[in-house]
Amino acid sequence: MQFDTFFSRDARSFRPSAIRAFAKLINDPSIISFAGGVPNPETFPVEAIARIAAQVVRERRAVSLQYGPTRGLPRLCEAIAGISRARGVECTAEDVLTTTGSQQALDLIAHTLLDPGDVVAVELPTYIGGSASFFARSAELVGVAQDDEGIVPESLREVASRTRIKLLYTIPNFQNPSGRLMTQERRAAVLRLAEEFDFLVIEDDPYGELVYVDGADTTSMKSRDVNGRVLYLGSFSKVLAPGLRCGWIVAAKPLVERLEIAKQAADLCSGMLDQSIVDELIAGGELAPQIERVRAFYRGKRGVLIEELERHFSGRAEWTPADGGLFTFVTMHEGTDTASRINDAVAGGVAYIPGGPFFVDGSGANTMRLTFAKEGDERIREGVARLARVFA
Ligand SMILES: Cc1ncc(COP(=O)(O)O)c(C=O)c1O
Repeated sequence: MQFDTFFSRDARSFRPSAIRAFAKLINDPSIISFAGGVPNPETFPVEAIARIAAQVVRERRAVSLQYGPTRGLPRLCEAIAGISRARGVECTAEDVLTTTGSQQALDLIAHTLLDPGDVVAVELPTYIGGSASFFARSAELVGVAQDDEGIVPESLREVASRTRIKLLYTIPNFQNPSGRLMTQERRAAVLRLAEEFDFLVIEDDPYGELVYVDGADTTSMKSRDVNGRVLYLGSFSKVLAPGLRCGWIVAAKPLVERLEIAKQAADLCSGMLDQSIVDELIAGGELAPQIERVRAFYRGKRGVLIEELERHFSGRAEWTPADGGLFTFVTMHEGTDTASRINDAVAGGVAYIPGGPFFVDGSGANTMRLTFAKEGDERIREGVARLARVFA
């Protein structure tokens, strides 16, 4: 049976994740892996989740095991509004739509705002799950340059002058994959361009709480948004556990109302058990100390990785400081092809993610993404030494 003629136009635009294939490399314990993109399970607040899960299942089954409001558990929406306000996002619970991870937020936004052929500007490089959501709605993706301060305004202006951008997708805080933090000046410049060229902005912020240095200004771009152009996305995946599938959108009322209808069609509501657990955990005051523990867990590992890169790659490559988040992004000399070296690397006992798939314009062959999330200090040291041998 041939099914091709049954696929929708959008389904014909689906793109499988080019990095999932690499991520499979990481389960062999003899391979030191910088390749994963997931939080370390050691950071999951297991005891709190187990205790709260038992409690909400036994004592509140009519909520935790029942269908719930599409918007989300009301008390959780209040808490999310509070968390968002602390990041500079002016909002109330009315402006919040909870989502099944921020990945669903990306999909709902793409479904609600994009027609086939609409142009979405994305950072070079960008998060593959983001581009996948836009490709899945047959959008056209255009890359915008970044430097160490974030999106380069001249590049965005150039793109916006030559094509009608409908949406800009940005991850200003410790971007996946680059690890970069966009400066506040750049955020302001990007918003001015959004006004001038009349496009909306998706600000995806799953990493803003994972800060390892003093003085990193992670204040949201949405804090500067006077006209409701920014759709702000948050997630509990990196500070609690991604298996809880709990994320959110804060946006202008007419947008949230339309997105809510899209979500009704998608899943009626996000998992009520997940939401109940997150809600209780926050109500019990357990989120703030948890975030401190997660920061402390990654801070040291990040320091080791950066130190070892300096030892082995100084003068041979450049990398982002990874002052927060889970990644550093390494740029090798022009002409190096990191994808073609991955088999050698795995044979040499180390894995990374080649950077090319993160660039929608086909550039980035000489880059790679490294995470410090998975391995302990000793293995990070040994892993960078192995990497240095592969690229000797
Ligand atoms: C930038 C970015 N956005 C969104 C997501 C999706 O996260 P979740 O759906 O677990 O909230 C990720 C996951 O890695 C990410 O890196």
